[in-house]
Amino acid sequence: METILVKAGEEAVASAAGILKNGGIVAVPTETVYGLAANAYDVNAVRAVFNAKGRPQDNPLILHICSIDMLHDITDSVQPLATRLAESFWPGPLTMIFPRKAHVPAETCGGLDTAAVRMPRSKFTLELIESCGFPIAAPSANTSGLPSPTSASHVFEDMNGKIPMIVDGGECRYGVESTVVCFEGEDRVRILRPGAVTPEMLREFCHVVIDNGVLEKLGPDAKVISPGMKYKHYSPAAEVYILKGGDDKTAKFIAKHCSVSTGFLGNGDERLPDSIIRFPYGSTSEEQAENLFASLREADSRGCREVYVRMPDTSGIGLAVYNRLLRSAGFRVIDLDGGSDALHE
Ligand code: TXA
Ligand code: MG
Repeated sequence: METILVKAGEEAVASAAGILKNGGIVAVPTETVYGLAANAYDVNAVRAVFNAKGRPQDNPLILHICSIDMLHDITDSVQPLATRLAESFWPGPLTMIFPRKAHVPAETCGGLDTAAVRMPRSKFTLELIESCGFPIAAPSANTSGLPSPTSASHVFEDMNGKIPMIVDGGECRYGVESTVVCFEGEDRVRILRPGAVTPEMLREFCHVVIDNGVLEKLGPDAKVISPGMKYKHYSPAAEVYILKGGDDKTAKFIAKHCSVSTGFLGNGDERLPDSIIRFPYGSTSEEQAENLFASLREADSRGCREVYVRMPDTSGIGLAVYNRLLRSAGFRVIDLDGGSDALHE
């Protein structure tokens, strides 16, 4: 199959809508990461998404909507807190989990009796959903297990030959996927995946619990609310390690362990050997969120064997950066202040 790249705009809305209405799939931009879209109510189209990504069937998709009417078509239990959060954060990077109505296909929701729903902020994608008239199921448009795509060229790397069309809407604003929450009673949410809608922001509205799976490695038998938490994720081919410690200790560690194929994501203040390949990271959490996936992909294109990444600050969107990074690194954090050199465990 030939994969064409088209610029976001009115014409692209019409052609993407044509593909989706005919049961096809197409990659679209959102403000978080690129998504691989299908009619959420069309079981065959949804299966095509799972196939193109190589995604496990039990990992449910997010339904993207353009209106509150569409939310009521998916669920009949929108509690007052959900309405308040929707009013404040939609359109935007917040995904909420609701009991699903019977007509929402189980396949879309990984066999669960709930559906995850969000209203994206991308103008193109909102117009596309509107023009289709049905919710769009869209996981991140990467091959399952690889870093999520934050530009159309990343999608092309993974999906060339597998899907008919990629809509190029430029680089994604946030660079990490939406915050996923479920409700616990009338006044509490549980964060299953952190994102740009931060715990601090949600605390203005309700009690907030951060699920253990956000920062801890779950055992193989752990019960998870969100199936995505148990899979390997966001991993480049290079081995990723998180380095916890100051500039000097980091520089010393790198000098000792680097080779010609060592990549590094840091804040720019570290004094490192010239042979180290630096990739953009940034000194604020927002910059780190924007750069993380692109830099991990870049490290693979440059043939890095290992990549060291400075421990991010974990407040605000930094919690999302750390959550993604832990998974990229298979939870390998080297504590340079702890004295032990835990490399190559
Ligand atoms: O920002 C985003 O959310 C992007 C863009 C494209 O919208 N989408 C995205 O989708 O990240 P995906 O499929 O890569 O991640 C969806 C996450 C998975 O961890 C999945 O397990 C969880 O949401 N999820 C989906 N439906 C769920 C449900 N009914 N209950 C619990 N978790 C659910
Ligand atoms: Mg994903």
